[in-house]
Order: sequence, then C-alpha cells, then structure tokens
Amino acid sequence: MSSLEEPLGLDKLPSMNTIDRIQRFSSGACRPREDNFGMGICFIEGRSCSTSNSCDEDNEEYTAETYPWKRHTRDIAQCRTFSQKTMTKGRNSMKFGMIDDSLSDFHSSPRGNSKDIPHSTHKFLGSIPSYVKIVEVGPRDGLQNEKNTVPTAVKIELIHRLASCGLSVIEATSFVSPKWVPQLADAKDVMQGVHGLEGIRLPVLTPNLRGFDAAIAAGAREVAVFASASESFSKSNINCNIEESLVRYRAVTRAAKELSIPVRGYVSCVIGCPVEGPIPPSKVAYVAKELYDMGCFEISLGDTIGVGTPGTVVPMLLAVMAVVPTEKLAVHFHDTYGQSLSNILVSLQMGISTVDSSIAGLGGCPYAKGASGNVATEDVVYMLNGLGVKTNTDLGKLMSVGDFISKQLGRPSGSKTAIALSQVTAEASRI
Ligand code: HMG
Ligand code: MG
Repeated sequence: MSSLEEPLGLDKLPSMNTIDRIQRFSSGACRPREDNFGMGICFIEGRSCSTSNSCDEDNEEYTAETYPWKRHTRDIAQCRTFSQKTMTKGRNSMKFGMIDDSLSDFHSSPRGNSKDIPHSTHKFLGSIPSYVKIVEVGPRDGLQNEKNTVPTAVKIELIHRLASCGLSVIEATSFVSPKWVPQLADAKDVMQGVHGLEGIRLPVLTPNLRGFDAAIAAGAREVAVFASASESFSKSNINCNIEESLVRYRAVTRAAKELSIPVRGYVSCVIGCPVEGPIPPSKVAYVAKELYDMGCFEISLGDTIGVGTPGTVVPMLLAVMAVVPTEKLAVHFHDTYGQSLSNILVSLQMGISTVDSSIAGLGGCPYAKGASGNVATEDVVYMLNGLGVKTNTDLGKLMSVGDFISKQLGRPSGSKTAIALSQVTAEASRI
C-alpha cells in the first residue's frame, strides 16, 4: 500500500456503481437532514429553506448576535485598506514578477484602487477574519502520492523556496512507515536539509510513538497526528479503527507534552468517505473533540476526497464548533470537485482563520479517477488578497515556487491563478 487515496480510489470501489457514486456525492446528496446530526444542530439555524433549493431569508440574519462564532471576526469593511497588491512589489527577479502596477491593481480588487470593500459587498460577505494563517502542506500532502520518487534535494529546495514566500507554517514530511508511503521514506534527510530554517514552523506527521520518536530525533519541533471520522478510511490509512488510533495519539500527545512539542490534530473524511459515503457531522465533532481534549493545539478538518460543498461544510463546522473553540480549527480541502474556494469562503464567514493548502495544488492520486490535490495555495492567496484579508505571503513568489515544483514533476501547475496570471504576465511582456 503506497498512497493515501490508492486503497480508496473512487474507480475501485467494490460496491458503488457510477450512479451510486454520483448520487452519493452530488451537491445535494451529502446535505444532511436535520435528523442526521445527532447533536441537535440543524442545517442552518433560523433559516427556512424551501424544497426548491431557495432560502427564504435576508442577510440581516448573519449577525454576530445570531451566530456567536462571529465574535472572533471583524467586519471586512473595517479592513485598513483595500489597496493591497495581489502581486506584491519587489519581485522583479522573479519570473512572475513582471506584472506592472495597473495589472496588479486589477488583480487585487474588483474595483482596482478602491480603499474599502463597498458596503453592498460587505453586506453579502458578512464578517471574515482580517488575517488568515496558511498552513502549506505541499511538501507532505502534495508529494506523498507522487508515483515517481521526488529527489530529497528537490523536497528540501521546495521547502526553502516556500519559506521565502512568507509562509509561517510548512508541513515538511511524515514519519510514517516507508512501506505505506515510500515517497516520504527520506523524512530524516529532509529534516536535516531544512534544519537551518529560522522562524518557520515545520510540522511533520507522526502516526504513532515510533514516528514521534523518529521525528524528534530528526529535529522536528512540531508534529501532527491524523485520525479519521470514517472507520473505513481509518483502517485503510493507518490500519486501525478510530478508537485504536485515539489511543495511539494519546500516547503521542503525552510524550509531546513532556517535551513541550506542539501537536496538531487532523480529522480526515469530514464530509464523505468513498466507502461509507456521507459522514455525519456528529462523528466529525466527536473525533475533533477527542483530539482537542488530548492536547492538540489545532484541529484541521480534512475533506480528504473533496466532495464537500458549502451545503455540507456549514453543518459539519457547526457541529464541530459546538465542541471545539472556533479559533482552534483549521480547514483542509482537497479540490476534487472544484469546491474548495467556496468551502473556504464559507469557513471564513463562520470565523475560521487557518487554511491548509498546497503549492500548485499538489496532491491527489493517479489511481483515483477524478480525485485531485489540495486547494492550490496560489488560488487561496489570490482570493484572500481580493477580499483584503492578510496572509503575509507573496503571490508572485508563490507562483514562482509552483512553477519550480511543477517543472520538477513534469506537469502543469494545478493552480488556476498561476496559469491565468502567468498568461497575463506573458501577454504584458509582449506589449
Ligand atoms: P501497520 O502495518 O499497521 O503497523 O502500520 P505495524 O506496527 O504492524 O508496522 C508495520 C511496519 O511499519 C513495521 O515494519 C513497523 O516497524 C513499521 P516491519 O517490521 O514490517 O519492517 N512502522 C514504522 N516505520 C516507520 N515509521 C513509523 C512506523 N510505524 C510502524 N512511524 C502505520 C501502521 C500507521 C505505521 C501505517 O499504516 C502507516 O504508516 N500509515 C501512514 C499512512 C499515511 O501516511 N497516510 C497519509 C497521511 S494522512 C492524510 O494525508 C490525510 C490528511 O492530509 C488530511 C486529509 O486530507 O483529510 C492528513
Ligand atoms: Mg490531505
């Protein structure tokens, strides 16, 4: 078994024919009914939705009073300025640094140089965080499924280049069984190669105490454990059921606490599982709370196979937010159905301010037809720049890194922003 999605490839499901799959994962299929929750939370409280898919409400319902999670956010209209450049200056040495100010303004805001998002826009967007922390998972999640071995030197260079973009957290690798994930068998060497990086957090995945000990010995200063909300996925991914995994992770978090090592917790399959279909939000909330209670400082909610839509993400988040503080949550979307950005936006509107993404949209599995990688970091940053949300990252540099790794892997970038902006750049340079 060599890859995450491989054993669960959508094209290899034993009991799901094509129609079953379409029905299970169509945008309406996963949408939970009220009685699905088990936690007493209905789809969107206070909203009366007609059967014709239209919601009978006005935007005034989205207020801090109605939704307590809003207290961690501030009005987007209060953003200091909306003249931030989507492509920051000072990158003339970069391949993608040639965009002039007019293009830069064009790509930063629907209204060019506008100082604030217009009131009407604010009315529709509601409150979103003024700063979003990006957790770059490309070197780990992005590369773990690559069929051909990526040289260790390339992985190290990728992490160094990502660090130069302003990213503060870069998931570097995994200390898992090399039989299960051969691509990351060089974890120790990768850690050695990034040892000198100052001021950047470089968490690594650890599935058990053995992985934790190896990670610490290799110099890791932050780790992540990864559980699942789906029993089937837990078995496929880490060869044990959910409860057994939680026992392992309690041992890891205990050991980490003794060394003052922060532990991040992942919950996979938070919306759907290729074997079990839709996953109840209550199950996600249960696993998230267990991870939080054992000491994980942050819980990343992973739509592993990318089937979520805002219609299913909102109830899942509501269930988790009822048991884990919003500021301790992150979202982790794979972009299989092209829903990631809309899912991220709705997560921001609910107060989440940590987003996982992968440079050039790396990830996915060549064996799982239609399954794709994580949402591309460039696309997330482009959207956040457009919303006037700070990330402290440089989009031009990110595009350059995406170009670097895409060339190393011999395929085009999975970032729509990178493709579009590089075309704009090329056209501009011809003029
Ligand atoms: P197992 O086969 O059940 O465990 O694997 P085992 O204890 O019987 O060990 C089997 C072999 O692995 C033994 O070696 C162990 O020593 C060795 P052998 O005696 O056969 O030579 N072993 C290890 N080697 C190195 N490091 C270790 C380690 N532990 C055991 N830490 C295990 C259990 C959990 C190890 C295995 O199933 C595994 O490594 N799974 C990892 C799968 C993985 O990395 N998946 C991808 C990450 S999760 C993800 O991508 C989702 C996420 O992105 C969020 C989302 O998208 O939703 C996070
Ligand atoms: Mg993932």
